Amino acid sequence: MSEHKAVELPSYKEQSPEVSQRFAELHQRPVKLDVRNLGKTFTSSKGSIEVLRDVSFQVRRREFISVIGPSGCGKSTLIRILAGLEESTTGEFLLDGQEAFGPCAERGMVFQSYTLFPWLSVKKNVMFGLEVAGRSDPHAESEALEWIDIVGLSRFADAYPSQLSGGMKQRVAIARALANQPSILFMDEPFGALDAQTRAQMQAYLLQIWRNVDITILFVTHDLEEAIHLSDRILVLKANPGEIQEFIEVPVPRPRDPSQYLFPEFLATKHRLEELIHPHRDIEQDDLHITRMTTVGDDAE
Ligand SMILES: Nc1ncnc2c1ncn2[C@@H]1O[C@H](COP(=O)(O)OP(=O)(O)OP(=O)(O)O)[C@@H](O)[C@H]1O
Ligand SMILES: [Mg+2]
Repeated sequence: MSEHKAVELPSYKEQSPEVSQRFAELHQRPVKLDVRNLGKTFTSSKGSIEVLRDVSFQVRRREFISVIGPSGCGKSTLIRILAGLEESTTGEFLLDGQEAFGPCAERGMVFQSYTLFPWLSVKKNVMFGLEVAGRSDPHAESEALEWIDIVGLSRFADAYPSQLSGGMKQRVAIARALANQPSILFMDEPFGALDAQTRAQMQAYLLQIWRNVDITILFVTHDLEEAIHLSDRILVLKANPGEIQEFIEVPVPRPRDPSQYLFPEFLATKHRLEELIHPHRDIEQDDLHITRMTTVGDDAE
């Protein structure tokens, strides 16, 4: 008879000397983003809803931070505020020690949905921000081509968005954001619409870019493994209102690679994130409020 032994995971707080050394160094870096008691309440004719409450955290230069939390907990709102696309109701945040107002070239943003201009070629899409910033045409073109090369799309520089796959469109969106040379990049579920294989490729691309460019990244995702695979630290929010539950130091060494998904420290971190995000796994049928939408006699199943 085979014996079943429960696998003992280490604590997600346990760090190898190599990882703990990395965090010690990271804490020495200058603070890139200092978020202080940020709050957001949306008010409409139907009343007001407090989405974020008292959110405070710091991000160091060149850190990779993921933000996770249940749907509707305010992840997009938080990142939109930090990117300058939305105003907070209370609190403030400093970028490189300065109060930041409105969108600016320092801060880049990549969204989940494809936001390319369909009537412009890949090259023109990437050049767009550069031209707005006043770069002369030949200059903007050569810079755009460099970024297109970095995301591996040189052959498609003259193609139009409709001729590209989802992953390729997101690579153009990343190239377009990076072309403005932001020092901090906000990404809101940028790979959420991609299939698993393309997503894995995009993660590899992003890690490679992040290693080679002096950039700090805040990355919203629903995917716990994606958060662990990419990040130095993971900011976990809870819902109603969105408040910080925990800011976790990922104990997985760098460089990252998908074989680490089965490492004990990876599994321990995933287990902790699951505990935080889905504290009550046993959902009663009544809680789901599922009603049958089909009419009697409609047996399309
Ligand atoms: N412009 C707005 N006006 C009113 N309410 C809003 C507005 N934007 C967001 N909300 C509300 O704020 C809450 C948080 O929304 P948000 O999009 O930030 O959540 P999220 O964590 O990104 O969710 P998801 O994981 O589904 O993307 C939701 O209840 C949403 O309905
Ligand atoms: Mg969102």
